[in-house]
Amino acid sequence: MNQRRLRSSTQMRELTSTVVLNHKKFIQPLFVDESLSERKMIIGMGDVYSDSVATVLDTIASDLKNGISKFLLFPVPGSKSEDEFNFSFAASVVRQIKNTFGDNIWLASDLCLCSYTSHGHCGILNHDHSQLLNYETVSLLKDYAWALADAGVDCIAPSDMTDGRIRCIRRHLDDSGYDQVSIMSYAAKFSSQYYGPFRDACHSSPNTHGLKNRKTYQISPLNLNDAIASAVRDAEEGADILMVKPAGLYTDIISTLSKKIRKPIAAYHVSGEYASIELMAGAGLLDKEAAHLETWTALVRSGADIIISYASRHAKEWIGRMEV
Ligand code: PBG
Ligand code: ZN
Repeated sequence: MNQRRLRSSTQMRELTSTVVLNHKKFIQPLFVDESLSERKMIIGMGDVYSDSVATVLDTIASDLKNGISKFLLFPVPGSKSEDEFNFSFAASVVRQIKNTFGDNIWLASDLCLCSYTSHGHCGILNHDHSQLLNYETVSLLKDYAWALADAGVDCIAPSDMTDGRIRCIRRHLDDSGYDQVSIMSYAAKFSSQYYGPFRDACHSSPNTHGLKNRKTYQISPLNLNDAIASAVRDAEEGADILMVKPAGLYTDIISTLSKKIRKPIAAYHVSGEYASIELMAGAGLLDKEAAHLETWTALVRSGADIIISYASRHAKEWIGRMEV
């Protein structure tokens, strides 16, 4: 059997490849921190910065020129609390972005409480901080979703991992006349080490005497059944897009879900995965551009329809000159 005929030239490799990358399938994450007056670097994240409200508009304008028009916003409020939340900063950022760019961009916003809470957890804790309260958390998230929808967001991306949030948010949006706002659910979100740089940027690491980590709400990497059941449940509750995160270590989940559920699957190559490439590239151990292209190829080959990457803003340029 001669397999090498298929590998023998660029043209042959191009013709016979089974994966096609397209920058139109990419979403760029954005951090906007209320406490900043100028852009700030994030440890390990290279040219990905935390923006201020003013600088995020420049960032988006520049990304648009580079062919990226889909964004996932992470609003980071300037002050934190345990039980009193004000979503006006997030809403005002969404409003300013949509007023400036209108339908030239598609704007999703992350929906979670971990950058709002003083203890860093993704919702409301009970009195001794030993448990995350489901009902109380979902109830706040639906109000937060309403505030973002009212500000003009195109998509809500709940990342908290409580039960029943998708149904509750979908109903609330529909009842309020925001039935055109879509939901991208963090459906298979695993409890992972790879969120480190993100938590640094969002000041959202758990820091309390009670719950020390997110294992009672995020999915265990040891439990394939939970990942599938959670994604099927979110799809039934009305999520339009289902996300798997992290991406690179979870291509089996992407593959399984893309075959099982007839809804678009988004793969989120998270901050720690991105930083791993940055750090290796910085040490001269790999070519960063080629490493991202290889990663994206793996995600699409596994069945991802949408890629969320911190390097999305380079996708058009890099895919355009990709060597096959
Ligand atoms: C908030 C949230 C996290 C990420 C996205 N939304 C962090 C976490 O759950 O601790 C991680 C994204 C990344 O690492 O790039 N719930
Ligand atoms: Zn969270």
